[in-house]
Amino acid sequence: MQLALSTWPEVERYLQASTGIIIPIGSTEQHGPNGLIGTDAICPLKIASEIERQVEQADADVLIAPSINYGMSQHHMAFTGTVTLRPTTLIQVAMDVVTSLAQHGFTHFYFLNGHGGNIPPVTAAFSELYAQQTGNKLRCRLANWWRNDAVTKLAAELYGEAEGHHATVSEVALSYYAHPEAVKDVPLSPEIAPTAEFYDATDFRQKFPDGRIGSSPQLATVEAGERFCKLAAEALGEDYRRFLDA
Ligand code: NI
Repeated sequence: MQLALSTWPEVERYLQASTGIIIPIGSTEQHGPNGLIGTDAICPLKIASEIERQVEQADADVLIAPSINYGMSQHHMAFTGTVTLRPTTLIQVAMDVVTSLAQHGFTHFYFLNGHGGNIPPVTAAFSELYAQQTGNKLRCRLANWWRNDAVTKLAAELYGEAEGHHATVSEVALSYYAHPEAVKDVPLSPEIAPTAEFYDATDFRQKFPDGRIGSSPQLATVEAGERFCKLAAEALGEDYRRFLDA
């Protein structure tokens, strides 16, 4: 069940059965020469809709909120097309979304995340929310799909070191599965991108001139993307159900 495609009486009825909600969150940032700028939002959205499909097959219901498509992407700003929220803005966005839904009776907020840069601000938002709440009702979880054990295992099996750290093969594959019409065929050189520590956006571009870190995303296929999506949906769907008991 999608919040955006529901009516308020339907949401009221849903709340009688469950007070949990999944909130996909990503970013709008460069993902190398063949990765889509929307990758980090496209992946959790696709996983969330697969969780929804699996849950509905079991004759149950789950509610998916509209995705938060902008994230904290300051370090990608030297690449055209990237849009960033400041960390403080993202903290406020996450807090306002949770506070609004909590006012209607939601208690369990499962942020299905596609972007590493969101982790510090979103977890800071959780701490602010816990500090503000009266009572002990709120439960917030940030689930980073690409860090799931089943996902990292499959990525290691398929790509080894070439999976990389940004514009990874698995995320590009998953985005291609979600949008096969947007698959890009672009030669990449070097085959595997460099890896290093980085500081600001200018430093990032100097060290990783085409935007990739350590990855070889020309290996990405729609077929592998489907495997990542199904695997992540099974694992995170299970994780969400456990979280509802917290
Ligand atoms: Ni990404």
